[in-house]
Amino acid sequence: MEIHIDTEAGRGRREEIYRQIREAILDGRLRAGEALPPTRELAERLAVSRNTVSAAYDRLAGEGFLEGRVGAGTFVRTDRVRGSAARGDATEFPIETVAVWERVRMPSGVHAEYDFQAGIPDVARFPFDTWRRLLGGEVRASSAASLGYGDPAGHTGLREAIARHIAVSRDVRASVDEVVVTSGAQQAIDLVGRVVLRPGDRVAVEDPGYPPARFLFEALGAEVVPVGVDAEGIRVADIPSGTKLVYVTPSHQFPLGLPMSLDRRLDLVAWAGKTGAVLVEDDYDTEFRYHGRPLEPLHSLDSTGRVVYVGSFSKVLSPGLRLGFLVAPASLCRVVAKARFVTDWHSTGPVQAALARFIDDGGLATHVRRMRREYRRRHDLVVSLLERDFRRLLTPIPAAAGLHVSAYCARPTTPVARRALRAGVLVNTLDEYAVLPGRRPGLVFGYGGIPFGKIEAGLNRLRDVLR
Ligand SMILES: Cc1ncc(COP(=O)(O)O)c(C=O)c1O
Repeated sequence: MEIHIDTEAGRGRREEIYRQIREAILDGRLRAGEALPPTRELAERLAVSRNTVSAAYDRLAGEGFLEGRVGAGTFVRTDRVRGSAARGDATEFPIETVAVWERVRMPSGVHAEYDFQAGIPDVARFPFDTWRRLLGGEVRASSAASLGYGDPAGHTGLREAIARHIAVSRDVRASVDEVVVTSGAQQAIDLVGRVVLRPGDRVAVEDPGYPPARFLFEALGAEVVPVGVDAEGIRVADIPSGTKLVYVTPSHQFPLGLPMSLDRRLDLVAWAGKTGAVLVEDDYDTEFRYHGRPLEPLHSLDSTGRVVYVGSFSKVLSPGLRLGFLVAPASLCRVVAKARFVTDWHSTGPVQAALARFIDDGGLATHVRRMRREYRRRHDLVVSLLERDFRRLLTPIPAAAGLHVSAYCARPTTPVARRALRAGVLVNTLDEYAVLPGRRPGLVFGYGGIPFGKIEAGLNRLRDVLR
């Protein structure tokens, strides 16, 4: 066995020999029953004294890793290694984990020739050159400012830029103290959950709805109650009493795609005002609205400070940047910042600073306008083809925003999606997002990740599968 001795590491040679052999036994490179080189031989090879090697062997023997056999030499102990070799295949003593994690489904990573996966923006159109310049500038110019530990609530310039951006784009009014930068919408939801929920608290989620949010609340120890969604949005009358937090997607219900009606928004806000529940409004892809006037966010309809508004740069720019934010009363933001501090401190400094500049320079507004034009073409094409070519097969659900449209289907969709995938078409099913069985089956057509030119051919293939 080759032992590398790194005296620079500050450990003595004896310690290094001991550590290397121990590691080799634990990770299975040295097997049970295997002979170690005689102390004299190893000492010569390593140019150390024989005493040094003997002391390391003695320590390993004392800890039960090695055994000396008179007249035969030193060997890796057979009984000891059975347990420690478990590190190699990690099956013998699995560490017990909390049950909710067993249920979490990760993105499949599957792609297809015609990819209608939901929730994927067109990252090929990311403004690469501008960002190369912005990020380069941040790393060069302000390394001291943006490379040290930063404010857990987020880069001040970015919080100011976000406050201005949402005032214009969503009519959400917030001061800088009411904005916390997060690692995507997902972390915003996590932080709110952490600071307002106690184990066993009741949380209502839309059904069908966004699974990562539901699993997150379960992981935080909440009792998660699925509440049905009709043509106007979540059925407020069905939210059970005692509910502490409601998570909703009012602009573009995920996954059905419909907006929550104004009446339903008002009902929900009034209900929260009466019960004292917290409303988490996930406005994840609201920048892309193609027809009609945007409806008032819950945040603007509420006068009691019970709505936490959550936004994301994942759809509008790129999910890989991992940037989002929440807007809440300053008193809640202060606590959220503490939760951020103890979980992962803050988002990457230079990336936050670059985004602040991108917003301030008008780059974001230009990018949104460009992408909105492109997504609108795709949205309109998908909707018109669903209406023209899938008449008796699918019933599109009206949607005027976002990166996907959904359609109800008269027959079970899981086998359809499976056959479609074999034919090179990837579509999600509403079943993937349903909590309770018996919800209406349907298909979800994401158009963020598929070029305009491939949409018609992809839908033609799907129609052949459905017929
Ligand atoms: C309902 C909903 N919320 C939020 C997000 C985005 O999350 P994040 O900002 O963490 O990337 C998605 C992405 O698919 C989503 O569908």
